[in-house]
Amino acid sequence: MTENGLPTLVLGGTGKTGRRVVERLRARGLPVRVGSRNGAPRFDWEDRSTWAPALDGVGSAYVAYYPDLALPGAVEVVGSFAELAVNGGVPRLVLLAGRGEPEAEQAEEAVRASGAELTIVRSTWFAQNFSEDYMLEHVLSGVVALPAGDTREPFVDADDIADVAVAALTDDRHVGALYELTGPRLLTFAEAVAEIAAASGREIRYAPVSIEEHAAAAAEQGVPGEVIELLTYLFGEILDGRNAHVTDGVQRALGRQPRDFAEYARDAAATGIWNEQPDLAA
Ligand SMILES: NC(=O)c1ccc[n+]([C@@H]2O[C@H](COP(=O)([O-])OP(=O)(O)OC[C@H]3O[C@@H](n4cnc5c(N)ncnc54)[C@H](OP(=O)(O)O)[C@@H]3O)[C@@H](O)[C@H]2O)c1
Repeated sequence: MTENGLPTLVLGGTGKTGRRVVERLRARGLPVRVGSRNGAPRFDWEDRSTWAPALDGVGSAYVAYYPDLALPGAVEVVGSFAELAVNGGVPRLVLLAGRGEPEAEQAEEAVRASGAELTIVRSTWFAQNFSEDYMLEHVLSGVVALPAGDTREPFVDADDIADVAVAALTDDRHVGALYELTGPRLLTFAEAVAEIAAASGREIRYAPVSIEEHAAAAAEQGVPGEVIELLTYLFGEILDGRNAHVTDGVQRALGRQPRDFAEYARDAAATGIWNEQPDLAA
């Protein structure tokens, strides 16, 4: 809890999952400190001098590493952060990790080694990648060109991730738990895009491309090399079918079913995020 009334530090607190964690804690009237490069105090994974001030006086932390635990160096960085937190009197940590990723599992171990009262939220591909991250531009262009073949993925809703994280931050029963989170249904990327098209009333199609074509197109669009490397790893290695099964993590943590991709698509469409961009030149 902040049984002690102390705030929770939410790292990535303006991002896809962190923003939702912040909203939920505030809705319960619980004190929150948003951890980001724009927070006060500022928190920057790349500037360790910002870590201790951000941890000062908090009772728990939600740890969403940026950009991704699979990137080189991440294991050491999150491990050091966890050690600093625990040694500084912030034992309760909730770590967001990626499912089926050996590097993320090493990061889990590094955080566990700190001796934290730890809950691991090991999550599959977020549905919100289509509306709040790199796949949004694809959707808006009308062609989602990705090297995803016809692998099936049980997309999970970031609202469910946030619900589990908040439960873990506020209830001792989740200490020590590892929740592997998926949605309730396996979908190919083509099927997911078809659901987005139906929900938004727009013509949007999925176009399978090779890893090389995807990397070349991303470079042309000015996507940073590090991000291209990450996407190449995620699509080329992790999306090989190893995650093509659903799990009961949401049910175990919350006692309810996870949200379906169709609910996500309906709600995201209602926000207008997938409306066509106005043609300013017209
Ligand atoms: N996307 C997926 O499908 C997926 C699946 C499983 C696991 N994950 C894991 O999810 C984590 C990311 O969580 P998310 O998607 O909720 O976050 P996100 O939306 O990618 O995160 C953006 C947040 O990170 C902050 N940020 C950016 N650079 C930062 C820096 N140098 N130092 C401190 N904060 C920084 C941003 O705030 P400022 O810009 O203000 O700093 C913002 O709050 C990754 O570790 C990834 O491995 C993702």
